[in-house]
Amino acid sequence: MVNKVIEVKNLYKTYFMEGGNSYPVLKDINFQINEGEFVAIMGPSGSGKSTLMNTLGCLDKPTSGIYQIDEQIVSSMNDDQLAEIRNKKIGFVFQGFNLLMKRTLLDNVCIPLIYAGYDLEEQHKRARDMLTHVKLGNFVDRFPNQISGGMQQRVAIARALINNPTLILADEPTGNLDTKTSIEIMDLFTELNKEGKTIVLVTHEPDIANYAKRLIYILDGVVHYDGPVEEFKGRK
Ligand SMILES: Nc1ncnc2c1ncn2[C@@H]1O[C@H](COP(=O)(O)OP(=O)(O)O)[C@@H](O)[C@H]1O
Ligand SMILES: [Mg+2]
Repeated sequence: MVNKVIEVKNLYKTYFMEGGNSYPVLKDINFQINEGEFVAIMGPSGSGKSTLMNTLGCLDKPTSGIYQIDEQIVSSMNDDQLAEIRNKKIGFVFQGFNLLMKRTLLDNVCIPLIYAGYDLEEQHKRARDMLTHVKLGNFVDRFPNQISGGMQQRVAIARALINNPTLILADEPTGNLDTKTSIEIMDLFTELNKEGKTIVLVTHEPDIANYAKRLIYILDGVVHYDGPVEEFKGRK
């Protein structure tokens, strides 16, 4: 029995500008993602990838259409309900890592646990275990500016994983990293996917998309291709 993690039906997102202009970015997007999938989203710059990711991540609301996570309809939830879904079900990884620079790695990873209501001892234990999982167990008391970019992204991944979310969303996670470090990060995502995590990742690099199994290619706000990564390469 496959569990459906995400379902997007007739999803539209339009930005409304001052002066009355409207700018449709996502136009009738439809797809379903099951538990354990590893999906890359590609498309030219400005095609709506980040808008889609922010919608999937409950950071932004669609203009119309239905968005479900774990069979719950999130497209009609209020801000408090969305915040709860974000905290419990979604781990977000950004291109710029988005760590708090004045906090230790341990404290950075603890942040989602504070909202989840764990006491300090339990927070520290869990964060230490998660940092060890991403091979940073010896660095828990460092600050982000004392470690490399690749290590900072591993901290961000540990933070994304800490509440055991249903879904990991990563928007250009290797965009600020060199090739060797990008491979390390993609190896980590691959390992997490083998452990059963559902991963959706935006990239503009075919080499990065190759780590995924399925590719969704967005062009001008519509799904232009949705299928195995290898078959898309053949079409290009
Ligand atoms: N908050 C916003 N308000 C208005 N326009 C936006 C906003 N965010 C993105 N856009 C526009 O929507 C289009 C898609 O942006 P985005 O989703 O960031 O694309 P991508 O991530 O594929 O490069 C772009 O033309 C961008 O300028
Ligand atoms: Mg983007």
